[in-house]
Amino acid sequence: MSAIKDRLDRAQASIASRIGGPIEVGIILGSGLGGSAKIVEGAVQIPYAEIAEFPRSTVVGHAGILHVGKVAGRRVALMQGRFHLFEGWKAGDIRLPIYLLRRLGARTLIVTNAAGGLNPSFRPGDIMLITDHLNFTGANPLVGDNDDQIGTRFPDMSDAHDRDLLEVARRVAREAGQPIREGIYAGVLGPSFETSAERRFLHLAGGDAVGMSTVVEVIAAKHCGLKVLAFSIITNVATGGPDQQPDHHLDILRVADEAGVRLAGLLPLLVAAV
Ligand code: HPA
Repeated sequence: MSAIKDRLDRAQASIASRIGGPIEVGIILGSGLGGSAKIVEGAVQIPYAEIAEFPRSTVVGHAGILHVGKVAGRRVALMQGRFHLFEGWKAGDIRLPIYLLRRLGARTLIVTNAAGGLNPSFRPGDIMLITDHLNFTGANPLVGDNDDQIGTRFPDMSDAHDRDLLEVARRVAREAGQPIREGIYAGVLGPSFETSAERRFLHLAGGDAVGMSTVVEVIAAKHCGLKVLAFSIITNVATGGPDQQPDHHLDILRVADEAGVRLAGLLPLLVAAV
């Protein structure tokens, strides 16, 4: 038995009696979206501390609760609070909750985050559909032994952000009258914000938004067969241009909270459609 399989067995066994039947969709809420955990109807709320092998959220704005219940009539497990490499978690720890969602039955994972806008046409408050990502974290959750029962040693990432789900998201946003941007998410380690030179580099490299999460989760999700749909809330201008303003975490959380309400409005529609 692989070490990760043991850990997953323990995690699943520790919550099995509280979960009920299988879930269909996993959701990870990033900064600013924490309030939308209330979209889960009839939720069983399980603090991460009560899930064996689970890491604990240490960041302000990340509550650390798994909500299991219904959204738009579908069974979901929603993670209110996520794990970041900058907290000191290893990429191998961050994948565990993702694999657990898959084990609980999820076929689809919806991920949200807060991100800086590298693309000069983006404004704070914009919602960006992530069409692809650049992994600049220096980490990969699949380093080490591979468990072939979870996924293949060399998983394809050409379709990491599922093309069909991108189409679904475009349609849902259009029908809801919610304008969305599209772009490539550059994932970095953090926790310091990027220098202006780094931001100009990330934009030249193809990035439209930069953030400190998501890429490790998406790689793990693709590895274990979850289809991924991911969104960024653009919380700050991060072009590294001559007008670049200093970044403050509390300002970022404020913008994420305001715009998060609009993205939260889309979530049930997305859950119904994916
Ligand atoms: N950089 C990295 N992470 C972020 C940013 C940023 O500018 N804004 C929100 N998360």
